[in-house]
Amino acid sequence: MAEQARILFEDELTELKENNRFRTLNLPQGLDLTSNDYLGMAGDPFLRQVAIDALQNGLDIGGAGSRLLRGHTQSHKALEDYAAMYFNAPQSLFFSSGFQANYALLTTLPKRGDIILYDSLIHASMRDGIRASDSKGYKFTHNDINHLEVLLKKHDAPSKTLWVCVEALYSMDGDFAPLNDIVKIIQKHNTILIVDEAHSSGIYGPKGRGLSQSIIQKTGHDRLITVHTCGKAIGVAGGLVCASESIIQALINKARPFIYSTAPMPLQAYLVQKSLEFLDTDEGENRRAQLLDLCKHAQSLFGGAGSQIVPIILGDDHKALSVAAKLQAQGYDIRAIRPPTVAEGTARLRLSLSSSLKKEQLENFYSELRTII
Ligand SMILES: Cc1ncc(COP(=O)(O)O)c(C=O)c1O
Repeated sequence: MAEQARILFEDELTELKENNRFRTLNLPQGLDLTSNDYLGMAGDPFLRQVAIDALQNGLDIGGAGSRLLRGHTQSHKALEDYAAMYFNAPQSLFFSSGFQANYALLTTLPKRGDIILYDSLIHASMRDGIRASDSKGYKFTHNDINHLEVLLKKHDAPSKTLWVCVEALYSMDGDFAPLNDIVKIIQKHNTILIVDEAHSSGIYGPKGRGLSQSIIQKTGHDRLITVHTCGKAIGVAGGLVCASESIIQALINKARPFIYSTAPMPLQAYLVQKSLEFLDTDEGENRRAQLLDLCKHAQSLFGGAGSQIVPIILGDDHKALSVAAKLQAQGYDIRAIRPPTVAEGTARLRLSLSSSLKKEQLENFYSELRTII
């Protein structure tokens, strides 16, 4: 049996290698053009000092139990109260990761008989949640409102809730969801909208509160759930779900990834709160302004939707790998993104901008890229 398992994986791994799909873990090296640390918070001296002071003052490192047992601490409670206020929501709930938050939402809330309609480019965490849920999922063409409307009409029935899942800013294509148009059409049906703000939290919307701030007035939180991952612009780790009181209570009582898992580190919760507080200051506003200015400049060079995520689509997996390797040799930390993370034939470099990057560095990278492709 063990021998069979070994041979089976050997074949799979060989096939991955032959198809340029084999993945390896590579340490950061060179100018960061790949991480999601969009506002430079991950290594920020302020946040580092906050962590040192907190530990010296006795803050616990480990969660030491499920949130429903002794793992619920003052740091978790304070973060959730603060995040609800920050993101303008009735309540929030903190998970160890954004993946866990999305997975918990979709495996807990939609009931048997409900329908989940999802954008074809949503993240693996939502997709896996949909697959493991009791409901049927149907995808609509990326950002295609007409297709979404066709599916809404087709599946609408008095007994069903229609769940609609989108990302505010798509992680691999860097384009924005037409949230206002989506809200206009879903309001005609019995829907609940889930907006994953993984790549927009901290950056977009008033004081970085996210793009769904523009629709909250229209939807109210009875019909809207937002997810704010905390390991990207916020610079720490975790996932905050913002929703109505009843949805948060349902998650606390029913979400298996929440109930049967050790609480996120209290230190993690504390640092997420401090990062959000920082992002609310003038310095946070300055970083956002720097990043958005850089985004405009990048758009003038590379095209794209003008966000901090710039896909450079090369098509072929081997080409993406070899172009990435050449750029890495020139001191740029940029990685190839291949299927199944992106669709077949759309292997790419995912250029990711950070507020600390200089325009000149971006221009030099652009020139280097032009000489290679
Ligand atoms: C759109 C999107 N949602 C959710 C996640 C998962 O978040 P986390 O990294 O906190 O698990 C990611 C991370 O890659 C993401 O890009």
